[in-house]
This record gives sequence, structure tokens and C-alpha cells, in this order.
Amino acid sequence: MTTPHLHIHQLHAGYGRARVLFDINLAITTGTIACILGRNGVGKTTLLNTIAGLITPTHGTITHNGTPITHHPPHTRVRNGMAYAPQGHDTFAPLTVAENLHVAHTATRRGRPELIDAALDRFPRLKPLLDRRAGNLSGGQAQQLAIARALITDPTLLLLDEPTEGIQPNIVEEIETAITDIAAEGTTVLLVEQYLDVALRLADTVTVLDAGRVVHTGDRADLTADDAHALMAI
Ligand SMILES: Nc1ncnc2c1ncn2[C@@H]1O[C@H](COP(=O)(O)OP(=O)(O)OP(=O)(O)O)[C@@H](O)[C@H]1O
Ligand SMILES: [Mg+2]
Repeated sequence: MTTPHLHIHQLHAGYGRARVLFDINLAITTGTIACILGRNGVGKTTLLNTIAGLITPTHGTITHNGTPITHHPPHTRVRNGMAYAPQGHDTFAPLTVAENLHVAHTATRRGRPELIDAALDRFPRLKPLLDRRAGNLSGGQAQQLAIARALITDPTLLLLDEPTEGIQPNIVEEIETAITDIAAEGTTVLLVEQYLDVALRLADTVTVLDAGRVVHTGDRADLTADDAHALMAI
């Protein structure tokens, strides 16, 4: 068996005394799209924040590319190839689109300037908007910028938290294509979704969370849409 690109072992995490995640185990293969599904408040963002190093787990380990990173600070994880586009298409609102992309390159000291051009080729809608402040973008444009910015650090592992939330269908389609292409080029994608149809179209593996626990994990091919609906309705 090959070593998983990301391995999460018996992970528990929360906020102070509020326990949110319980005994999470997850193994993700290089270049695949692993989808985390679950209703509001089950702990999806908490899991991504813990993987990104923004929350310290109370128990368990995280291994990225064979390196134990459980206690690494977020910037070390970025330098080791992890990138994160958080929920709510978070960008630096006062900065222009171009500045948002440059900051990702200079602040992280990872990646190459030509990746800015590559990210713009992936999201051509951003090209005429380079001088616009990120705070003045539409939701769909801002989401594309958030993913483009994450790609500037040349990640081997990309964490995406609900990239299609509240976005109009034609831009959802563009984002789906980008995610598929990114994985096909060898980057592992951990995708949190609430829209079942998006998840089922993109995922290689599906993990369903409920109340902070994994209630299902397996290959997408082994999951029918009816089973997925049933799991989400727990
Ligand atoms: N900073 C925080 N302090 C305390 N509790 C928090 C904090 N952030 C989230 N929580 C709680 O942790 C639980 C899991 O929240 P989380 O944001 O991980 O859920 P989620 O699955 O991402 O939900 P959504 O689909 O709405 O984004 C919720 O009960 C939430 O209220
Ligand atoms: Mg969330």
C-alpha cells in the first residue's frame, strides 16, 4: 500500500472546553480529490483549520507527505506545500487582485512569480480585474481569486472550504473544472462541500461527518446518490 499524501490519525479537536471533532481518521492519496460532506455545524471547517494549523488538536496526529506536522505552525505547513482557501472566499479586501496574488508569493516565500500567470490562465475572468480592489469583486470572482491566491504557493495539497457556496451556476462550473484540472496535474485536493451534486461529480473519495465524527468514508464509485442523501440526512 502506498503512503497517503495526507494522513490523519485519531484526531480530536475543539475550542477550549467545547469539543468538536472526535477520533477523525482519514487517508488521502496523492492527486485525488477527497470530499468532506456534512451539514451545517458538524465540524468541517474545524477539521480544515486543524489540518492548516490554526487549531491545535487535543489528541491525534497529522502527517503530510510522510512528515509529522501536528505541531508545525501554519507558515511551515505552507512552505511544505499546503495551501488553504478558507470558507467565505476570504481575500485581502483593501488590496487589488494583482496585489492579492503578489502578496501570496512574497509573504510565503514559496512558489514562483510565473505561477501568477498560470493562476490567471486558470481563472481568465480575473485578468481584466487586476487593478480592482478585492473587496469590490462579486462573490464568484472573489472565490476564484481565493483559489488563485492559494495556487501561487505551488501547493501539493490544496484545502478548499465550500468553494461553491452561494455562487452562481456558471461560475460553479468553472470552479469545478479548475478543481478537476488541479487534481489531474497531481495536486491532492481536500474539498469541503455542502452541495451533494458538486461533491459527487468531483470526488474520488467521500467522507461524511456528523456531529464531529466520521460516519462514512469510501470511494465515490461505491456510493450511490441515494446512499449519500441518506447519510447527509442523519
Ligand atoms: N471559534 C469558535 N469557538 C467556539 N465554537 C466554535 C468556533 N467555531 C466554530 N465553533 C463551533 O464548532 C462547531 C463546528 O463548527 P464548524 O464551523 O467547524 O462547522 P461546519 O461544518 O464548517 O459548518 P458550516 O457548514 O456551517 O460551515 C459548531 O458547533 C460551531 O458553533
Ligand atoms: Mg464551515
